[in-house]
Amino acid sequence: MQYKIAERVAGISDSVTIALSAKGKAMAAAGEDVVNFGAGEPDFNTPEPVRAAAKRAMDDGQTRYTPAAGTPALRKAICEKFKTDNGLDYAPEQVVVSNGAKHSLYHALQTVCSPGDEVIIPAPYWVTYPEQVRAASGVPVIVPTSVEQNFKMTRQQLADAITDKTRVVMLNSPSNPTGAVYTRAELAELADVIVERDLLVITDEIYEKLVFGGAEHHSIAALGPEIFERSIVVNGVSKTYAMTGWRVGYTAGPAAILKPFARLQSHASSNPCSVSQAAALEAITGDQSVVATMRAAFDKRRQLLMERVAAIPGLSMPEPLGAFYAFVNVSEPISRGFAQDSVEFCNRCLEETKVVMIPGSPFGAEGYVRISYATSAENISEGLDRLKRVLALA
Ligand SMILES: Cc1ncc(COP(=O)(O)O)c(C=O)c1O
Repeated sequence: MQYKIAERVAGISDSVTIALSAKGKAMAAAGEDVVNFGAGEPDFNTPEPVRAAAKRAMDDGQTRYTPAAGTPALRKAICEKFKTDNGLDYAPEQVVVSNGAKHSLYHALQTVCSPGDEVIIPAPYWVTYPEQVRAASGVPVIVPTSVEQNFKMTRQQLADAITDKTRVVMLNSPSNPTGAVYTRAELAELADVIVERDLLVITDEIYEKLVFGGAEHHSIAALGPEIFERSIVVNGVSKTYAMTGWRVGYTAGPAAILKPFARLQSHASSNPCSVSQAAALEAITGDQSVVATMRAAFDKRRQLLMERVAAIPGLSMPEPLGAFYAFVNVSEPISRGFAQDSVEFCNRCLEETKVVMIPGSPFGAEGYVRISYATSAENISEGLDRLKRVLALA
């Protein structure tokens, strides 16, 4: 039987990120001594008060449907968070809680993208963006950035990529996979262009609390009333509170966008898990010192990783200032014939040294690999020792 798959879905590619991580996990499950630098999630457990709040919610009978856009208490808490952390004023009707930030982004794009609309995505980008744009029948327009510009799109690059069909610009600061963090001044330049050309920006701020080395997170939406009304802000609890499995993300923006967004969600997936929402409420309103503790642990690992990469001849990387990834330039070993490209580089490293890394090509940047430092210091040392050995032998 030949099945006809809808065009907007047929073109969606497999996630190389997930494929390589799965291979590494299978090797580990088979008893092999794998060092996994593939993780896209904190290795900490969800903080105890958050887990306790979820247990209480279950025992209190918070086990039924909630409003499709999220519980009033959580939406109110999210508004307060936006005010305190980001200087953004939203009413609860302007906030929708979804099943993770990935789901939030999906519904945001479905809401604002019409067939043929162009969506500007600076590369390197999170692998999911172009696929979600295609799933919304939009056209991803990739703007490559270089290491010399710290992988950040400039005002000129943005202006040059705009056509009559451009509708949305996607931003992700701090960035997965590069760890780049836009400064306030850089965001202001992009905001000028977005306002001048009357576009929308979807700003994915999921790593906002993970900034290092003096970097500060700024939301582009906070840079003035004109950019505010053109901004759709996506955030969530996954990375900040080590809650990836709970699936709670949220979106805020103009009511004229968030209302149809909420209607779409009510028919597509209804409310996110009631118990997870209770947990997210505790995470956002409870003691925030856990965030600082986890951030400090990530920072130590980040510094260890920078030292160890610097000690491997042929490898280099810009200082990652946010998230928990380093984007390492492996073009020298590739040019020496160690591998043909970043996919083969990662496959060879996995097979010969049992180190999982994610190739740069699915993020739109050949010649790089992404190393996640959401793992122990021991793993970082061991993994980079192995990498050093295999590259020296090659
Ligand atoms: C840049 C970026 N945005 C969004 C997400 C999705 O987060 P969530 O787990 O809340 O769906 C991720 C997860 O890896 C991410 O890296």
